[in-house]
Parts: sequence; C-alpha cells; structure tokens
Amino acid sequence: MALISTLTPVFVAILCVVIAFIFKTQRSSESSSAQKSSSGGGSGSEARPWVDEDLQDDTEISGRENEEDDWAVVGTEDLPHVPYAPRRYPEEEMLERSKHFYALLNERRSVRYISPEPVPREVIDNVIRAAGTAPSGAHTEPWTFVVVADAEIKHKIREIVEEEEEVNYKQRMGDKWVHDLRRLRTNWVKEYLDTAPYLILIFKQTYGTMPDGKKRTHYYNEISVSISCGLLLAALQNVGLVTVTSTPLNCGPQLRVLLRRPANEKLLLLLPVGYPAPDATVPDLSRKELNDIMVFV
Ligand SMILES: Cc1cc2nc3c(=O)[nH]c(=O)nc-3n(C[C@H](O)[C@H](O)[C@H](O)COP(=O)(O)O)c2cc1C
Repeated sequence: MALISTLTPVFVAILCVVIAFIFKTQRSSESSSAQKSSSGGGSGSEARPWVDEDLQDDTEISGRENEEDDWAVVGTEDLPHVPYAPRRYPEEEMLERSKHFYALLNERRSVRYISPEPVPREVIDNVIRAAGTAPSGAHTEPWTFVVVADAEIKHKIREIVEEEEEVNYKQRMGDKWVHDLRRLRTNWVKEYLDTAPYLILIFKQTYGTMPDGKKRTHYYNEISVSISCGLLLAALQNVGLVTVTSTPLNCGPQLRVLLRRPANEKLLLLLPVGYPAPDATVPDLSRKELNDIMVFV
C-alpha cells in the first residue's frame, strides 16, 4: 500500500508528460498543414497572399522558377500623393451619360468582315493610349500592344493562324467545340487578317525587366491586361471601328517570335481593326437582361 502511494505521483507525472507530448505533436502538425495551405501547398515556401490560383497568370510560376538574385526589389521609395478631384456631374446629367454610354457599347458586335479602307494612324494611337489607362497590379502596366499595318507581316500572321486553326477545327479541339461554334459560322479561314488595316496583338508581360536587367514581378498580369483589352474594345467602339476578339489557339509562341517579342510576353488577344465591310453580317445574338446578370443585395 505504501509502495502504491509512493508511486502514484510518479505515474501522474509520467501521464502528464505523455499527454503533453501528444498535444504538442498534434499542434505542430496542424500548424504545418495550415502553413502549406496558405502558401499554395509548396513545402517551405513563404505565404504569397497575392497569388490567387484561379488567376493562373504566371505571377507565382515566374517568381519560383528563377533565382532570387535575378529579381529586382522595387517600389521602396515613398511616392508623393497629389490631390485628385475628378469631374462630378449633376444627377440628371449622370443618368443621361449612363444611358448614352450603354447605348454606344450595346451596339458593339464582333465583326469578322473588315474593310481594307485606311484608318488614321493617330486614331489607333489614341485608342491604345486609352487602353493603357487601365489599372494594373502594383502599377506594373504589364501590357504590350503590337500594331501591325505591314501587309506582308499581316499575311504571315494569317498563314500561322490559319494553319493552327485548321488543326484546331479538324483534330485538336474535338466535336463539342466545333459543334458549339457552328452557329457563329466561323472556320479556320480568316480573311480579315489580310483585309483589316491594322492587327493589334495584345501581349501580357508575365514579368517586367528593369534597366539593370533584373526581373520585376507583374502581379495579376493577366487580369490587368484583360481589363486593358476591355477599355480598348470600348475605345474602338467609341470611334466607330470594329474588331473581333480573337484568341488563336496554339499560335502565341509563333506569333511572338514573328513579331520579335521577348520570352516574358505571352499573346492574349489578336484584334483585327478597321471599318466594317459594306456587306458585313453578324450572328443574330441577343444579350442577357439586367436581372440575369446582376444580383442586387
Ligand atoms: C475571350 C474571347 C475569345 C474569343 N475568341 C474568338 C476567336 O478566337 N475567334 C472568333 O471568331 N471569335 C472569338 N470571340 C468572339 C465571340 O465569338 C463573340 O464575342 C461572341 O460570339 C459574342 O458576340 P459579340 O461579341 O458580337 O457580342 C471571342 C470572344 C471572347 C470574349
């Protein structure tokens, strides 16, 4: 009995040590799995809250694949902030302007028949200036607009696109894709690539290059460039020009090389730009009603 009562405190002490050990092991495994999930699952990598996996814009990839020393540290200087007072309209005028702008944009259609009639170069410069006002992650402006007016280069672009698109339609993309596109009456023949006075190819810069050769991370580059493309489409509509937002599959690398763009640039869109051909037609599509696209809470 005396022995048992002597040993009880020893048992209790051992039990406490065992419980503490189990608790500690559990805590450390929880914290390491939380760390993994916040860093996108990569072992040992620090958390990168700006990297949204849905965006798939190479922000993360470009940061991981390269040596730390290749990357510039930017934006450490304190920027002066200046007063900003954009113009403000009386409510009646606001309403009028909102209707007018909607009416203008509602006339926009993708046009695949483009007239060769020349378009003033200065107009193109200005629509691209307008596109360049888009917001961009950390003010990186990760876009390059390549404007092609040269007939020979336009034709080379057509050859690349038609060759790849023929494979897309006949083999690569499968029956469902071809079936879904049938009502638009599109195929791999892209005459507009020759006839449009300008082809605008929009490249996203997956990272930037500093004057000293170091790389600069372009956060959210794909979404930034997409916003810029939206502004470009609106600016074209504003001056009465037409285009079709085309995304020629599997042509990006060849077009990048043809246009001598660097490896950090990836083709996002190819826009043939001009006046509509006099006999242009468009598919008779209608847009969704406001209630189908807006949820008001
Ligand atoms: C992301 C995106 C990619 C597109 N890619 C192509 C394309 O490669 N070729 C094409 O002829 N049209 C393309 N289109 C145009 C769509 O077919 C067109 O926008 C759609 O049919 C709606 O017609 P609308 O632009 O006249 O309203 C694309 C549109 C979007 C938004």
